[in-house]
Amino acid sequence: MKCVIVTGGSRGIGREICLNFAKETDYHILVNYQGNDAAAEETLTQIREAGGTGELLKFNVADSKMTNAVLGNWQEQNPGALVEVIVNNAGITRDGLFMWMSENDWKDVLSISLDGFYNVTNFFIQKLLRNKYGRIINIVSVSGVKGTAGQTNYSAAKAAVIGATKALAQEVAKRKITVNAVAPGFIKTDMTAELNEEELVKMIPANRFGEAKEVADLVSFLASPKAGYITGEVININGGIYS
Ligand code: NAI
Repeated sequence: MKCVIVTGGSRGIGREICLNFAKETDYHILVNYQGNDAAAEETLTQIREAGGTGELLKFNVADSKMTNAVLGNWQEQNPGALVEVIVNNAGITRDGLFMWMSENDWKDVLSISLDGFYNVTNFFIQKLLRNKYGRIINIVSVSGVKGTAGQTNYSAAKAAVIGATKALAQEVAKRKITVNAVAPGFIKTDMTAELNEEELVKMIPANRFGEAKEVADLVSFLASPKAGYITGEVININGGIYS
């Protein structure tokens, strides 16, 4: 059984990524999420309605013990299963000016993005290397590329994952494993629901926020065999705000 894991797959961009895999591939879809059981169940229902198969894996990607325990248990129960595609999508924001930023807001944002990348990717990497084919896709942000005021923690977290993407890509390229980052601008999800869309679109050349499905379509391409010669890249998807 060949599988894809999508962290933070219960809603938003992660859910659309899961649904694309359900529609376009035969991969069994492992939907990781942190807390919202109802949203996760809804994603699973939609995966099945789209003709796919999947299951829910609830754990906090920032917690290495919990991640190893849940993934270890899953692998034990599915010894023949191979996770061939990893989409590190889980992420949070805790915005605020740096001078008032609490240590928790710094650490939580860093650890979900960066430790989350390590915990999940490192768990699967040896099997992936033995498989001699794989795709690792990290969802970062325009903030990690250009830096955004009010998001020093988030910009640092995403920039760190960009560095990891470029380094790991070089380590595993010979085994036909690609590692890329996708850097969205403003996308309509719960994460951006509180933002003043009317004001912000003025600085977006495309004059609108992006849709989660548009990000998912880029991920689909990078996850496909067609994208085999693209690795170590950061692909911006932002309506022209920064490139
Ligand atoms: P969202 O807030 O709608 O969804 C976040 C997902 O991450 C949820 O499924 C949640 O369960 C999961 N999650 C959060 N903490 C977790 C943890 N510790 N362990 C496991 N899962 C956890 O967010 P959205 O907008 O769908 O964002 C997805 C990714 O895209 C994030 O990495 C975000 O930083 C990135 N992004 C989003 C942009 C936007 O405009 N919405 C722009 C640029 C990047």
